[in-house]
Amino acid sequence: MTGQHGSMRADPARAGGVTRIRVGPGLAGDPAGTDAYDVVVGHQLLGELPGLLGGAQRVLVVHPRGLRATGEAVREDLLAAGHETYLAEVPDGEEAKTSAVLAFCWGVLGQAGFTRTDAVVGVGGGAVTDLAGFVAATWLRGVRVVQVPTTLLAMVDAAVGGKTGVNTTEGKNLVGAFHPPSGVLCDLAALETLPRNDLVAGLAEVVKTGFIADPRILEVLENDPDAATTWDAPALRELVERSVAVKARVVTEDLEESYLREILNYGHTFGHAVEQVERYTWRHGAAVSVGMVFAAELGRLAGRTPERLVDRHRDVLRRLGLPLTYAGGRWPALLEAMRRDKKTRGDLLRFVVLEDVGRPVRLEGPDPALLVAAYGEVSG
Ligand SMILES: NC(=O)c1ccc[n+]([C@@H]2O[C@H](COP(=O)([O-])OP(=O)(O)OC[C@H]3O[C@@H](n4cnc5c(N)ncnc54)[C@H](O)[C@@H]3O)[C@@H](O)[C@H]2O)c1
Repeated sequence: MTGQHGSMRADPARAGGVTRIRVGPGLAGDPAGTDAYDVVVGHQLLGELPGLLGGAQRVLVVHPRGLRATGEAVREDLLAAGHETYLAEVPDGEEAKTSAVLAFCWGVLGQAGFTRTDAVVGVGGGAVTDLAGFVAATWLRGVRVVQVPTTLLAMVDAAVGGKTGVNTTEGKNLVGAFHPPSGVLCDLAALETLPRNDLVAGLAEVVKTGFIADPRILEVLENDPDAATTWDAPALRELVERSVAVKARVVTEDLEESYLREILNYGHTFGHAVEQVERYTWRHGAAVSVGMVFAAELGRLAGRTPERLVDRHRDVLRRLGLPLTYAGGRWPALLEAMRRDKKTRGDLLRFVVLEDVGRPVRLEGPDPALLVAAYGEVSG
């Protein structure tokens, strides 16, 4: 994980007002590159959709209740392009990621007679793209899915990379599959209606991407934090493109999360613990924000992260309006949650820390005293 300085930097190429970022070829288990796909970033991208459906006769559009008009618009386009089109309206947010909603979607596919060559389109935030991806992964052991993410988090993270799944009553994302999409359409116009808090929360993943792999992302955020939270600003577009480019490079090299992909979890070990302890009332991005400050402090205490880099974390996150602290007195619960985290191997807690911007390293089994001290630095 060391020595990646600059290697993940990418300068996405634009043509005709859209930017195409390739994921693959070279995805695990796909030496011929047939699973490679493009993430397209731009405005008014629905015209791209029919070309990604591989000649499917039937298409199921999965969308959340709150995006009914968008779901209808997608359906109109698909009907006009000659597809037999079905809508599955699902609950907003995490309520969509349940076995009951999954079974509802399977029911629609079954009644409409979906075959191996038909397709699913996920229109919504990460909850819906996770669900739609899993519906596609499981129907007849796998049909085509195209993702149309409508939140910043889904554009830069959830919809890219092929991880799909639903929750169970025992926990989040416990059931799932790797099922790469045939394409991802990041239509920035969708962000116009996204509540500001959701946009800002999505920026936490953008900040993370900057720290682990692309210094230019940090510069853009620092130069004009207001532009970063404006849906039609060129700066936000650049941030989306650069973040997607990094994720594309990482997942191309490591589809199934064995080693390199761990760097994408920067700030997430502590962040996930906060989410669990708070019973998912915190936005993921807010928890990751505090998690990055924790990781930076832990890295500093372990002698890996320079102090000026820790300060830079606080500066950039604060300017975006993201939280830097979490309530004191919750350490035992947080530690317990971190130990249960999927990424923990055996009893060893694992963290990603930074030696510099773009130089993530793994910190395994840190001294418990350092963990307590790092918590002291972030507990408000
Ligand atoms: N598969 C992965 O690799 C991956 C990575 C990160 C997160 N995730 C998953 O993503 C989910 C979180 O995604 P999210 O943050 O996008 O939240 P979300 O999908 O829960 O959406 C948040 C809310 O915003 C609404 N919404 C979506 N787009 C909108 C728009 N354009 N305008 C107005 N409202 C809109 C949704 O209906 C919902 O109510 C979690 O379930 C998480 O597990 C998956």
